[in-house]
Amino acid sequence: MKKSKRTKIKVLFAQSVELEEVTVEGWVRTRRDSKGGFSFLELNDGSCLKNIQVIVDHTLDGFRDIQEEITTGSCVSVQGKWATSPGKGQSMELQARQVKIYGSADPEKYPLQKKRHSFEYLREIAHLRPRTNTMGAVMRVRNRLAYSIHRFFNERGFVYLNTPIITTSDCEGAGEMFQVTTLDLDKVPKTDGQVDYSQDFFGGKTGLTVSGQLEGEVFAMALSEIYTFGPTFRAENSNTSRHLAEFWMVEPEMAFYDLDDNMDLAEEFIKFLLSDILEHCSEDMEFFNQRIDKTIHATLKQILDNEFERIHYSDAIHLLQKSKEKFVYATEWGCNLQAEHERYLSEKVFKKPIIVFNYPEAIKPFYMKLNEDGETVRAMDVLLPKLGEIIGGSQREENYEVLLKRIEQKDLNSEDYWWYMDLRRFGSAPHSGFGLGFERLVQFVTGMENIRDVIPFPRTPKHATF
Ligand code: 4AD
Ligand code: MG
Repeated sequence: MKKSKRTKIKVLFAQSVELEEVTVEGWVRTRRDSKGGFSFLELNDGSCLKNIQVIVDHTLDGFRDIQEEITTGSCVSVQGKWATSPGKGQSMELQARQVKIYGSADPEKYPLQKKRHSFEYLREIAHLRPRTNTMGAVMRVRNRLAYSIHRFFNERGFVYLNTPIITTSDCEGAGEMFQVTTLDLDKVPKTDGQVDYSQDFFGGKTGLTVSGQLEGEVFAMALSEIYTFGPTFRAENSNTSRHLAEFWMVEPEMAFYDLDDNMDLAEEFIKFLLSDILEHCSEDMEFFNQRIDKTIHATLKQILDNEFERIHYSDAIHLLQKSKEKFVYATEWGCNLQAEHERYLSEKVFKKPIIVFNYPEAIKPFYMKLNEDGETVRAMDVLLPKLGEIIGGSQREENYEVLLKRIEQKDLNSEDYWWYMDLRRFGSAPHSGFGLGFERLVQFVTGMENIRDVIPFPRTPKHATF
């Protein structure tokens, strides 16, 4: 007999009329047996948060033989009638005519029983945590955000660009590249005490990219507006709830944009994503608002209704110095803004997103455009309440001489950047761009405390098992 076509639970819920014949397949969340001779299954297939209720009459052919195997975590296929439910708690239910079991899940051993598990524990069973309500909702929201990122840029004529993952340039110059090599680490070839990388796979020292920006600039200098959306890697030893060693970044790069245009785009981009998610993921967002962070709806709506505050770095420092707050890190002009400072400014002072711009050149990478004062660069960071930095970007230095000087000042080898410099020798143009940390976005939107819980398989120091 031909297998009947499966209907996703989400699609079924959208049907308020009775359907004589449907097939639903999914994982059992619970089974309850009534004295009246019925079993009630709560079934979930990941298409939406809500479970479907399946009611099975114990006289159903063959059901008694498999009933005890249908436990939490088992996988079943149910064929039956989608009908108005006489019971409380749901308006429709699936009245089974046939139940098939694909895979059982021994209740003695299956780790995801009905009780609530901590997120820390769930990370240890990363292969099963997608079956929890929270992880399912996170992944659907993550998926929608990815989709609407592509929509945002495509609707504006940006070209999606895939930049290389293996690269020779440390874009951020922070020395946080993971090395890529096929050299035998037990017998590294050396010449005069130095590793001989000419014998390595690529004939030189290579690593995993920390950012696609430099290559993105190459294409912006030809296609005008591009964006990348890919994995980036940073070997920084930060064990915080905001850092991953492998994360996804979205990096638009635009010719003919100055810093103001860049800030406008960043603000429009974030607002577009928030409004889209509220519209298209309402069920999951309701869940986050009830179960994870009760302020999340209000926060997102407030962001949509207000303009981001834009302030000079110098003014930000001034505000921090004036404040009565006790900060762990210094607040002198020239210091990096730390998470505690960023949150204080956006949460307590302005109570909304802020864009801090014109940072001291000494604390920012070589590629940022030097201001006329010679001391600051046209950098911008977008800071969100509760999260801190979500976007880092800048106008780029388009002047060859100035760029060369900055590369040398930062003790970088200008020869390594010859192709990047060439963009300033041939048809240079003012241009700007930024990078948005995708997991930080998902974290902000869902209200999840830890960034490790918004990516399928988190990679952090000492942790890459699965
Ligand atoms: O501020 P960052 O380092 O900027 C760049 O890499 C630029 N090249 C971007 C550009 O102008 N095209 O990183 C950008 C964003 C940060 O604001 C943050 O949201 C995220 O990437 N990010 C991380 N997210 C998770 N884990 C980490 N370790 C992260 N480091 C940065
Ligand atoms: Mg940054």
